[in-house]
Amino acid sequence: MRVLLIGPPGAGKGTQATRIAAHFDLTRIAIGDLLREEVAAGTELGNNARQYMDRGDLVPDDVVIAMTRDRVVKANTEGGYILDGYPRTLPQAEAAYRWAMARGVPFDLALHFEIGEGELLARLAGRAREEGRSDDAEETIRHRLEVFRVQTLPLVDYYRRRGILVEINAVGLVDAITERILATLHWYKANALAAGADRPEWAFGPASR
Ligand code: AP5
Ligand code: MG
Repeated sequence: MRVLLIGPPGAGKGTQATRIAAHFDLTRIAIGDLLREEVAAGTELGNNARQYMDRGDLVPDDVVIAMTRDRVVKANTEGGYILDGYPRTLPQAEAAYRWAMARGVPFDLALHFEIGEGELLARLAGRAREEGRSDDAEETIRHRLEVFRVQTLPLVDYYRRRGILVEINAVGLVDAITERILATLHWYKANALAAGADRPEWAFGPASR
C-alpha cells in the first residue's frame, strides 16, 4: 500500500500516520521529522534547511525530492509506505509521479485532511507548550498556513483529477479519525487492490469520511 497525506500544519498527519503505519505494517516517511534530525545533527543539509523551516517556508524542492527517493524505494520492497507531508508542491508531485510511473509503483491513495483554521491554531499552540518546536510560534504558524494554501492545496485538485483523492474529516477525537482512515484504507484494500481495479474507479468507492 502506498499512501500519501495532505493537510495543513496541525491537521494530525504525524499523529495519524504513526497509527496507520503500525496497523498495516507500513513505513512512515515524514520529511519534516527527517529534516529536524538533520538540523539537530548539524549537517550541511540541516543547516541549509533550518533557515527555511524556522521561517515556516518550504525547503527547496530538489532537497526534499532527493531525500525521499531512496527511502520510498526501500519501503516499497518492505510492504509499502505512508508519506507524511510529501509531496507538498506541484513540482514535487510531478517529480514523484514521473519517477514512480517509470518504476510501476504509483501512489494508491492521497488522503486530504480537512480541518478549520481555529482548530489548527489551538492544536499547535498546545504542541508549542509541550514540545517547543522552533516553527510553532504564532506568527510562523500563520505563515505556514498561508504557505499550505498557496503551495500545497493545489495538490488536492491534482490528485482528484488522477482519481486517487479521498477527503478525510480531520476534526474530532484522535481515535475517531483513525477509525475513519482505517475504514477507507480497508475498503480500498478489499475492493481496489484485490480486484486490480483501474485507478479512476477507486475514487467512487470510499467517498468522503
Ligand atoms: P512538518 O514537520 O511536516 O510540519 P507540518 O506539515 O507543518 O505539520 P505538523 O507536523 O505541524 O502537523 P501534523 O499535521 O503532523 O499534526 P500533528 O500530528 O503533529 O514540516 C515542517 C517543515 O519542514 C515545513 O514547514 C518545511 O519547512 C519542511 N518540509 C517538510 N516537508 C516538506 C516538503 N515536502 N517540501 C518542502 N519542505 C518540507 O498534530 C499537531 C498537534 O495536534 C499535536 O500536538 C497533536 O498531539 C495534536 N493533535 C493531533 N490530532 C488531534 C486531534 N484529533 N485532536 C486534538 N489534538 C490533536
Ligand atoms: Mg507532522
